[in-house]
Amino acid sequence: MIETILTRRSIRKYTDEKISEETLNTLLNCAFSAPSAMNRRPFHVIVVDDKDMLQKIADAGMYTKMIANASMCLVICGDHKRQPFRDFIINDCSAMIQNILLAAHELGLGAVWCGVMPRMGLHKKLNALLELPLTVEPMGLVSLGYPAETKEKLERLEWDKVHRQKW
Ligand SMILES: Cc1cc2nc3c(=O)[nH]c(=O)nc-3n(C[C@H](O)[C@H](O)[C@H](O)COP(=O)(O)O)c2cc1C
Repeated sequence: MIETILTRRSIRKYTDEKISEETLNTLLNCAFSAPSAMNRRPFHVIVVDDKDMLQKIADAGMYTKMIANASMCLVICGDHKRQPFRDFIINDCSAMIQNILLAAHELGLGAVWCGVMPRMGLHKKLNALLELPLTVEPMGLVSLGYPAETKEKLERLEWDKVHRQKW
């Protein structure tokens, strides 16, 4: 697991190889194992692997173009009915997304997290494209596929940002 964390990078180029249902199940199992504030578990996942839908999601954002060539896109949504504090929904969905990224990397997949924020056009477009209920908000996308690019492991520990006892 430690090597998985240290070597994970954002992968935006993918081969045509499909992701099996078994691999998807593992990803979802890891996704839903994320911690959740007050254990409210407000997260939902929409699995998109239809080519036409992938293209539409790719076109909906400024930084989501890689999704057009992805094998799959997982849309992580938060349900405001389950958790009234939006900050906690963001935290919970982020934990879920990180679990997916790490599981994907360990399974030999490439993945990248694409952010979704309320003021972005993408947010509005996803609501319509995915026919989300009014209480459900898209919180993030994970573009997935077998990698067609490799990225080096980076040394990223910044000691000047590590503080002990006080700032
Ligand atoms: C909240 C969040 C939003 C992101 N949104 C995008 C995005 O919209 N498009 C994209 O290509 N990468 C996106 N990324 C990926 C970052 O660009 C990437 O993690 C960063 O450059 C570090 O590279 P690495 O993931 O290879 O370590 C996002 C990452 C996070 C955490």
